[in-house]
Amino acid sequence: MSSEVRLHQILDWDSPQQNARLRRELAAGLLQAKASIAPKFFYDRLGSRLFEAITELPEYYPTRTEAAIFSEHLPAIRQALGQGFTLIDLGCGSCGKAGRLFHAGVLPSRYVAVDISVDFMRDSLQQLKRELPAIEMIGIGIDFTHEFELPDDLPLKRRVFFYPGSSIGNFSPPDAGRFLRGLADRMDASGGLLIGVDLIKASALLDAAYDDALGVTAAFNRNLLRHVNVRIDADFDLRDWQHVAFYNATDARIEMHLEARRALTVNWPDAAGRSLRQFVAGERIHTENSYKYSPEGFTALLASAGFSDIRMWTDPRGWFALFFARRAE
Ligand code: AVI
Repeated sequence: MSSEVRLHQILDWDSPQQNARLRRELAAGLLQAKASIAPKFFYDRLGSRLFEAITELPEYYPTRTEAAIFSEHLPAIRQALGQGFTLIDLGCGSCGKAGRLFHAGVLPSRYVAVDISVDFMRDSLQQLKRELPAIEMIGIGIDFTHEFELPDDLPLKRRVFFYPGSSIGNFSPPDAGRFLRGLADRMDASGGLLIGVDLIKASALLDAAYDDALGVTAAFNRNLLRHVNVRIDADFDLRDWQHVAFYNATDARIEMHLEARRALTVNWPDAAGRSLRQFVAGERIHTENSYKYSPEGFTALLASAGFSDIRMWTDPRGWFALFFARRAE
């Protein structure tokens, strides 16, 4: 049995094409009237570690609540998944959630770990392979939120996409619908989707989860600027920016922003020489939305994206939900 993991389509952040694309994307976001930077820039190696730390914070209930749902409903989840499936873990991070499932006896025959944070994914996957050598393991280092192709030789039968942690909430609802449709298109009727979704709840709980007392989420948010500095040689000074996070009940989403503490200019080199963006004191860069759903709202989204046989498990307080759905025939 091989102790090796297979690696595919490894995104090279530093390749000239990729770097040019990132520069265009970042410049377009920064030069808008309302500046924004895509949340994928959170996840360099340090950002991935900071996110792991967030999941341990007392205020950040999603990870712990989702884990409790898994433990509570393990037999039903195991039965829904069956055997001989390929688990495709989107945004695997440390592969911790998949690893816990495997150690609890929910065993796929093949595990495909997909993450944009390539180094972090590779290290985590190699560690998991040492623990569970019988499972074939494949790593794909890509930005799957953009577009992605699975390896040609990956069997179509019994593909189960695993998208825990409510990462689906980081898409707008229309984009989430398109993304889910894309997953349905990559499986046949023997496949499925196991997905975690954060539910609408009291805004005080949500505000605290995204603005913790220790300041880890603030560090995670500001680290995005450090990552952007590395990627495009920008000159963000992290001390000039403060973390802002709040629940926007009208749109049912947490918004995260970085707010300029003073009037300042950010510079970065480009093909024409140099680009710059001026900010007045108090002006913000929008860095993330995290949408929250009602059980009915997410069920409807799954159905409209081509899924059926939708099952849902939740926690006693109704804070978080785990859905399993099959592709509609
Ligand atoms: C990855 N994603 C589901 C997290 C969330 O809750 O939206 C990212 C995060 N941002 C701040 N804290 C956690």
